[in-house]
Amino acid sequence: MTCAMLKVLLLLHLTTTVLVAKASFLTPPLWPSSYSVDFQEEGHAPGSKPLYTNKGSWYYDFKQNIGRFDKGAGQHDFACQQQAHHLSPNDLHAPCQLLFAKDTNMYVIYPNTKACCTPCGEKEFCSLIKPNWLSNSTYVGTRVYEGNACYGWEINGSTSKDYWFATKMNVPCEYHQIPYKVSEAIVSMNFTQESYKTDEPDQSLFLIPSYCKEKCPSAMHSLHAFP
Ligand SMILES: *[C@@H]1O[C@H](CO)[C@@H](O)[C@H](O)[C@H]1NC(C)=O
Ligand SMILES: *[C@@H]1O[C@H](CO)[C@@H](O)[C@H](O)[C@H]1NC(C)=O
Ligand SMILES: *[C@@H]1O[C@H](CO)[C@@H](O)[C@H](O)[C@H]1NC(C)=O
Repeated sequence: MTCAMLKVLLLLHLTTTVLVAKASFLTPPLWPSSYSVDFQEEGHAPGSKPLYTNKGSWYYDFKQNIGRFDKGAGQHDFACQQQAHHLSPNDLHAPCQLLFAKDTNMYVIYPNTKACCTPCGEKEFCSLIKPNWLSNSTYVGTRVYEGNACYGWEINGSTSKDYWFATKMNVPCEYHQIPYKVSEAIVSMNFTQESYKTDEPDQSLFLIPSYCKEKCPSAMHSLHAFP
């Protein structure tokens, strides 16, 4: 063995050690039991310009088993659009909220028209996503968002492949879904990292509006993951 070869072997050995160390450090992220964050959302076909964009916010409180997704004006949210003709016929893309309430029901709310209905409850598998939903995910490498390195994780969801990117400090960077049906749009959300807070959100955010009284005419099943 020449000296040069030994050097190469040593280098290889060092590289392997570093890679192994890095891989074991990278375990799938676990969500904190509560947090809130703002995002920018868009839907697009593979490789094309956005079909729509909207802003939004997410409030999560797993300790209380409650959560709320606010989708801003222009939204094409799947669960909102299923009820839009009923709840907001003059503006299907008006702001919409998905509330996972204390009573274990899920509510679709259009605040502008003060219209609301329940498409499903926990019994029908419409439940709040769990903090460990990524525990069986696969690491897919890093990407830069807002100037920060974000670690990516992939998991097979029920209707799409789901991707979650977060910083080393577990601050969410990006989430997107690639539907198994190629005819469906890819939905992606960029999180405003500065808006991320792990405080328990104000409980008044999760109150069920008084006008939420009816079941939705079109029922929906299995809304396990991200709506
Ligand atoms: C998210 O950020 C990436 C990279 O900066 C950008 O290409 C993409 O258009 C953004 N998406 C949304 C939904 O804003
Ligand atoms: C991960 O996979 C195991 C084995 O298939 C399963 O029992 C477990 O429920 C999965 N965890 C989650 C959070 O989906
Ligand atoms: C995810 O689904 C793909 C097919 O779309 C399959 O090849 C892959 O093995 C699945 N991964 C896991 C972890 O189940």
